[in-house]
Amino acid sequence: SIEQRIAALLGQMTLEEKIGQLNQYSGREVTGPASNRKNDLLNSIRSGQVGSMLNVKGVADTRLIQAEALKSRLKIPLLFSLDVIHGYQTVFPIPLGEAASWDLAAIRESAHVAAREAAASGIHWTFAPMVDVGRDPRWGRVMEGAGEDTYLGSQIARARVLGFQGEKLGGTDAIMACAKHFAAYGAAVAGREYNVVDVSPQQLWEVYLPPFRAAADAGVATFMNSFNTLNGIPATGSRYLQRDILKGQWQYMGFVVSDWGSIGEMVPWGYATDKADAARKALAAGSDMDMESDAYHATLAQSIKDGQADPALLDDAVRRILRKKFELGLFDDPYRFSDEKREKQVLNDPKHRVAARDIARKSVVLLKNDNNALPLAQPRSIALVGPLAKAKRDLAGSWVVLADTAQITSVYGGLSKRAGKNTQVRYAKGCEVQGDSRAGFAAAVEAAKASDVVVLCVGETWDMSGEAKSRTDIGLPGVQTELFQALKATGKPVVVILMAGRPLVFNAIADQADAILYGWWPGSEGGHALADVLFGDYNPAGKLPSTFPRSLGQVPISYQLYNTGRPVTKPGDIRYKSAYIDSPNTPRYAFGHGLSYTSFKYDGLKISQSTMAAGQTVQLQCTVTNTGKVAGEEVVQLYLRDLVASVARPLKELKDFQKISLKPGETKTLTFTIDQDKLAFYNAKLEWVAEPGDFQLMIGSASDDIRLESKLTLQ
Ligand code: IFM
Repeated sequence: SIEQRIAALLGQMTLEEKIGQLNQYSGREVTGPASNRKNDLLNSIRSGQVGSMLNVKGVADTRLIQAEALKSRLKIPLLFSLDVIHGYQTVFPIPLGEAASWDLAAIRESAHVAAREAAASGIHWTFAPMVDVGRDPRWGRVMEGAGEDTYLGSQIARARVLGFQGEKLGGTDAIMACAKHFAAYGAAVAGREYNVVDVSPQQLWEVYLPPFRAAADAGVATFMNSFNTLNGIPATGSRYLQRDILKGQWQYMGFVVSDWGSIGEMVPWGYATDKADAARKALAAGSDMDMESDAYHATLAQSIKDGQADPALLDDAVRRILRKKFELGLFDDPYRFSDEKREKQVLNDPKHRVAARDIARKSVVLLKNDNNALPLAQPRSIALVGPLAKAKRDLAGSWVVLADTAQITSVYGGLSKRAGKNTQVRYAKGCEVQGDSRAGFAAAVEAAKASDVVVLCVGETWDMSGEAKSRTDIGLPGVQTELFQALKATGKPVVVILMAGRPLVFNAIADQADAILYGWWPGSEGGHALADVLFGDYNPAGKLPSTFPRSLGQVPISYQLYNTGRPVTKPGDIRYKSAYIDSPNTPRYAFGHGLSYTSFKYDGLKISQSTMAAGQTVQLQCTVTNTGKVAGEEVVQLYLRDLVASVARPLKELKDFQKISLKPGETKTLTFTIDQDKLAFYNAKLEWVAEPGDFQLMIGSASDDIRLESKLTLQ
């Protein structure tokens, strides 16, 4: 068995060889700061001092380096890892965009395609999915997660893990996944990267941990810890997170990798005196692999010899890492992910582009559509304007490590192809994303005046969201809003396509545009996908996975508001109420919001019983009818409120959803099952309890568009 093989191998290993398995180094400094490493890497690999590499890709390069590892005394193969975050060669929409699809099968397929390509290109392991709940759009990394909601985030975490890994590790079209960043990184104070996190135990357990638990339950092979402190303790050095919760309560058998340099960073945090101290603390806390701190390599042997570090913990870490190498089949064939012919075939598989287009259009959210400005009736001419209209690299977004972005379809490319001969497309850039030059406005206005309709592509450049890309201003950058206003002044209908890595604030556009599509950063097939939506070849069904605030002053923000002791009960009646004097509490666009080219009627609510005894389940049923003229998909959302509890509860919590597809006139009956778990929460003693009492059940099309309500009493 694998366990016997691990034991036999461990028995032969020297102290240095054991520590060797714990070290991970980067081939290139593409995803972190300059290396701390002093040693000659190839030589270290040959002498068994390296367990894993990151940021090396391609069969040729990984093969070459693996060959060096196989020259080591025990011939232990290396693990090759990379941030395969939203596609590998074929770029998929950014994870936040994919989350807007609420389509778990499509999300799983996206991760599967990414894994298939990466696995064919020598990669064994991705640092994804990021399952951090994020409620602060200043934080540049919201682009990499599934948004603000714990329930949706947990479902997506599971889908992504299964997509990357398949049901079981060992296939050559699957790679190891990594649930990151453990834990609560999404709550970084003021949305500033690498910052402090201070959350209550209830918030930790209820909001931030469940997606990690979902990933662990789905079998995620690895976890990554985090740069932040959690209530004072660096996550990398937290025994509570890694030993007590993850490896203890959750009985997790995979291994934990540190984030880039995060072991060493416990020194500047003021939590360790030096690298040796940091290494001892990290090992004791359960951080198994050291990414790029070079702290384990440089100091652990001495600490163990001095009796300051526990050799049993070292053995445990080595066992965990070796287990994954065995499960991947690398001891049987270290080159099983290294076939050049397969690499060529798989990276050029046209099916991957089809999958990318499918989820890119499912990710698009129709935020506004006045007077049915969309879909475009076949216009005679379109003014296609804006700094992102011809962009390719920007549509890939951040976290496409070393991907070839020349193959991306721009909006111009997609639109021109779809528009055909009978529609003239007039392009004008208008301005840059950033900067204050208005020199291009005149040409853009001319193009608008000469055309039937304006399609304006604005947003962020690819490098404005992502790691180390926190912003204090989440407005539309540069003079893009002014460009919009100049176009609007022509009197022509203006359809705005926003592409960005976070929820932005764009009030003028929200007020005055005729239609708005939020396309996120849509990936390789972005241009085609957006053309599909513009022309109505695909009816948009995306729903926001994050609240869009009216202003930065509302941040952090989520739909999970509390009633407070002084709720605003009448709009505008705010004196001595929990409110702002200069803004409503309500967001610009609510969590779950997203329009369609058709309309849906919700009806026929039935509850199987209005009281529920402990251990029972209750069925909630409703019908949804497509009352419009075109087929469409709808995400039917179930929210719940616990009216009185031993801990004050939010006004709404998402508890379930179903995505359905309806032809015009078609009706479907949906059933939601409510069990005790859906009614439960963490009480003041951190016990997961469903307390007797009344619950309000709400079914809707968005968190601010509840269509049906019912009551349930738990006895
Ligand atoms: O995986 C990432 C992590 O999310 C942030 N720091 C660098 C890692 C490796 O590239």
